[in-house]
Amino acid sequence: MTENTIQTVKIKRIINECDGIKTFFFDVRNTNLTQNNRFLKPGQFVMIWVPGVDEVPMSLSGYDEDGCWSITVKNVGECTNAIHDLNQGDYIGVRGPLGNGFEFPNENIRNIFLIGGGVGMVPLKWLSFEFHKMNYKFTLIEGAKKYDELVFVEDLHALEDSNSEILYCTEDGSYGSKEVASEAFEKVLQKYSEADLINSIAFTCGPEKMMYKVFQICEKYNIELQASLERIMRCGCGLCGLCALDPLGLLVCKDGPVFSSKILRKIEDFGKFKRNFTGKKISIEKRNKLN
Ligand SMILES: Cc1cc2nc3c(=O)[nH]c(=O)nc-3n(C[C@H](O)[C@H](O)[C@H](O)COP(=O)(O)OP(=O)(O)OC[C@H]3O[C@@H](n4cnc5c(N)ncnc54)[C@H](O)[C@@H]3O)c2cc1C
Ligand code: FES
Repeated sequence: MTENTIQTVKIKRIINECDGIKTFFFDVRNTNLTQNNRFLKPGQFVMIWVPGVDEVPMSLSGYDEDGCWSITVKNVGECTNAIHDLNQGDYIGVRGPLGNGFEFPNENIRNIFLIGGGVGMVPLKWLSFEFHKMNYKFTLIEGAKKYDELVFVEDLHALEDSNSEILYCTEDGSYGSKEVASEAFEKVLQKYSEADLINSIAFTCGPEKMMYKVFQICEKYNIELQASLERIMRCGCGLCGLCALDPLGLLVCKDGPVFSSKILRKIEDFGKFKRNFTGKKISIEKRNKLN
């Protein structure tokens, strides 16, 4: 059995997070997925198979002591709609964990920034809770178009009494500051001196336009970045080539989805092009329902 063997799992619990977004906890006890528990890292993903519909990639949003893993799904199309129609007690197929996940910084790191948008908050919320357990202080910025689309606000309350800072921004100003997450990030950085920012790291996941701006800001302020990229995936394990990034031919499913600044600088597709289901390259500007 490998991480590429589909395992059938039962849905134990479902949470309505916000408009069109639900979290599903599924029981991995009595499956071979449990042997992968010790390798689980925020940023890794699973392929979720809905029989008769499709198989799609989903970031893991965590795992609990009761033997459940969780995913948080935005309803944007055929398969995610079918996932949203599932009830507690229903079964899905799961393959994973796949991909590399975020690299944890060492204890000498001075400043940690997390910048997320939309369902990009899924791996970042889990990462922020891991940092909290490790007593790392961080600044987390969550951005959305409007209040109804901010995810995990309730969960993140739990971090508010720590020394960490949680900031929200919305494009329509309905919650937090009225701006996009990258603007909020730059404003935060402007409060630090150049010397204070030495040995800082940022983590980002969300719409690629946002991540590209975050990358440019990090380059300007000399901050190391880890970005979790998203591409259309078929196989999730390096076979179909649909998630290839030019010009290096790196595969988001196998070499990523998390890439560091050193690699991001070389990916010409980053912030510019993605592939559609036929493999044809199209502009990233072409907005879809995910952002
Ligand atoms: C590594 C990774 C992690 C992901 N994590 C999450 C997550 O935690 N939560 C979540 O809700 N979604 C996540 N996604 C996106 C998710 O896979 C897509 O929303 C899903 O595949 C859409 O399937 P569908 O059949 O419902 O939509 P479709 O009917 O196939 O498409 C609907 C729209 O979504 C676009 N789309 C489809 N697949 C993708 C994709 N893989 N990336 C970007 N756009 C896509 C299509 O171009 C179209 O505009 C992740 C994607 C990747 C690659
Ligand atoms: S999804 Fe097939 S190679 Fe990445």
